Amino acid sequence: MTSESAGSGHSLKDLDIIRQDAESELAAVKDKETAEQFRIKYLGKKGILREILKSLKDIPEKERREFGARANQLRVTIEEKFEQAPWKTSREDKDSLSFDPTLPGFPFPKGSTHPLMRIRNEIRDIFLSMGFSVAYGPDVETDYYNFEALNTPAFHPARDMQDTFYISETVLLRTHTSPVQVRTMENRKPPFRYIMPGRVYRNEEISARSYCLFHQIEGLYVDENVSFSDLKGTLLAFCRRFFDEKTRIKIRPSFFPFTEPSVEIDVECFLCGGEGCSICKKSGWLEVLGAGMVHPNVLKNVGIDPEKYTGFAFGIGIERIALLKYGIEDIRFFYENDVRFLKQF
Ligand code: PHE
Repeated sequence: MTSESAGSGHSLKDLDIIRQDAESELAAVKDKETAEQFRIKYLGKKGILREILKSLKDIPEKERREFGARANQLRVTIEEKFEQAPWKTSREDKDSLSFDPTLPGFPFPKGSTHPLMRIRNEIRDIFLSMGFSVAYGPDVETDYYNFEALNTPAFHPARDMQDTFYISETVLLRTHTSPVQVRTMENRKPPFRYIMPGRVYRNEEISARSYCLFHQIEGLYVDENVSFSDLKGTLLAFCRRFFDEKTRIKIRPSFFPFTEPSVEIDVECFLCGGEGCSICKKSGWLEVLGAGMVHPNVLKNVGIDPEKYTGFAFGIGIERIALLKYGIEDIRFFYENDVRFLKQF
């Protein structure tokens, strides 16, 4: 509407038409741009509603009063409707959120330590506080380090294709962390105390209880006069720090080619306190590690005199402890990287 046409004089009917137009155009407004177009067209300095008020002088005197009041009221109504339009608040809130640089940033989600690494770190820290150091060895090993040097003869069932992933006839994925014992002893003179964490691999059928890879922490202590009571005292101290200060342990005879004597150590079930539950299969005890006095042949293989030095070694399965400690039902959860699982730790 131009002042020219306004000059021809408006009637009250025109105001109704303007109201109807404005209302239907306002209903069609959906973003900043169309809103601005609407504002300029109706509410701007040269907008329709201002022009109408300016054209008052052309209205016959007897109608002027009422027309002026109605036109003014129409302007107020349209202004109010424009301010209250629902797109406006939601739209503007969003815009100011994405553009206001003074607002604090969105929180950056923090990951958590994998449950296996948590258990590994806890075990490691206990042994570090007892004076052990950390050593590592390769996942891809030779037959020599994984078996031969560990007094495991060629006919030993652990060498079977069923258990071991062979890469070639003499290269394989280590089946335990014990080869790191050999590598560590080769370059050092006793006394020494080491823990050796790492991944190990076994060609086992995958199920809730076993997987083709898992983690161990190996321990080794060699010095003059190391006796079986040192092994017992060290591992009892470890179990009491890791599980509970009153935990009792049970030492059972076992067999490993690289230790003599060999034992397996059970801890009192920390879930039922030894009373017997479904986790400890009503026995009150949980098997947690294998250990023994380092076999004289192993010491000989790395050039350490077994007449002068003795030592003990142990191997702890990390998955087993994590399954028990956190009450996890399926070992495969550890390897699936499902954040819904990992977030719980
Ligand atoms: N290597 C053994 C295993 O994997 C555990 C072990 C380590 C036993 C050290 C004795 C001494 O079962």
